Amino acid sequence: MIPDLWYPVAISGDVTDKKPKGIRRLGEEIVLWRDLDGKVVCQGARCPHKGAWLGDGRMKGNAIECPYHGFLFNPEGKCTLTPAMGKDARIPGSLKVPVYPVREKYGLIWVWWGDDRPESELPEIIAPREIKENDRVYDTISWNKPVHYTRYIESVQEFYHVTYVHRDHWLNWLDFMFLYGTKKKFGLDGKENYLKATMIHNHHVETDDDGMTFRYSFDHGEEDNPERSIHYVITFSFPCMVHVETEAFATTSWFSPIDEEHTEHIFRVYEFPQLKPILRHEKLRRAMSTLQCYLEKYVQDPQDYKIMARQEPRVSGGGVNKFIPVDEMNAKFIKTRARLLREARERREGTVTAGDVSDGMVGDLDMATDEVGPGQPAALEAKRRTPARSNGRAKGNGHANGRTNGHANGNGSANGDGSANGGAATNGSAATNGKGDSTAAPAEKEDSPSGNRAAARS
Ligand code: FES
Ligand SMILES: [Fe+2]
Repeated sequence: MIPDLWYPVAISGDVTDKKPKGIRRLGEEIVLWRDLDGKVVCQGARCPHKGAWLGDGRMKGNAIECPYHGFLFNPEGKCTLTPAMGKDARIPGSLKVPVYPVREKYGLIWVWWGDDRPESELPEIIAPREIKENDRVYDTISWNKPVHYTRYIESVQEFYHVTYVHRDHWLNWLDFMFLYGTKKKFGLDGKENYLKATMIHNHHVETDDDGMTFRYSFDHGEEDNPERSIHYVITFSFPCMVHVETEAFATTSWFSPIDEEHTEHIFRVYEFPQLKPILRHEKLRRAMSTLQCYLEKYVQDPQDYKIMARQEPRVSGGGVNKFIPVDEMNAKFIKTRARLLREARERREGTVTAGDVSDGMVGDLDMATDEVGPGQPAALEAKRRTPARSNGRAKGNGHANGRTNGHANGNGSANGDGSANGGAATNGSAATNGKGDSTAAPAEKEDSPSGNRAAARS
């Protein structure tokens, strides 16, 4: 995980003042509960006495009670009662649970995964305008899958897999009809149109000023019939949010890392404005949203999981993919993630420079090329797939750029349709930036919790 960021870990409504909620997130066992003021408390979930699971405990006044011997822990993590010793007993100072910085915003509980800072110095939670300004929230649910969050995020950041992945369940029919069917044929031509929709037209990626949010707009439709397509805007914000918006619907997913093997998918749906005139009763519109949630959980997500469960390597990162131009969003996510990991590491080592922080994209974007060096393709490929691949990758990119004189050219050939992709030029410029900094290709080392796990505790 990228250190020094706020991560969503749970839905607000799932944390009550009635019962503690014990969960595993960010590689830690944590327990969430509300104090007497309704403020969320986040603490380590293991009782320091004999390691019982505090998630099975009870609320007692302004404290959580361990289910094993009834020790009480206050919001600051201090043990305030050991019943077996009586209420006047002196309580050893080491009987305490770690307390994590926590905030409640946008209907979610967020935990700080990073270094130890005073509350006043913690940054704002990252949320794009799609979240900040949206008051049409209808439903938020969550579930988990044994998938690394990088692969999960990649899958929702692009939409051209839908034609191949989401088509064989009978309930996919709702999508066919609703999104791809024509009024003229009462939606009955939906499946036919859907299966023909294999092309991404007019793709374009923009980056917000803070460099932490990307917005990917494109049209998904038929190759020969570009006017018959659906316009999408997919917004990604670090560390793990993907918001999908079309004229017909909007959804948000947060992929909360449980650990290196599992991800909690927090899924939110919004009111369908176009249904207002048809479904006048709000309850009916809410029922539609609930249906959409369960379709995602029980139909679409399992379809995605079927692919992700067999995907290798399990963790995405620099050098493991060969992206095509319409994967620009994926490429930027992977590249920026590598940079953020590197910067966090450098901050801890005290070697960060202003130039490193301001550089939006370093290294190449892992685009597929046909420029494998003569006589050594196997060796080069092997190098690309080893953890120490970054130098080889940067070198390969420089070589490709030099030979083709511009990344747009390389993109065009990879895509086979340079003309249809205005976004290829954007791609090209990002890659050219990367070329300028190719010696600084990020060494991608995942999660060094030694500093963070301890530092996140107070
Ligand atoms: S294990 Fe928690 S009080 Fe004994
Ligand atoms: Fe999918």
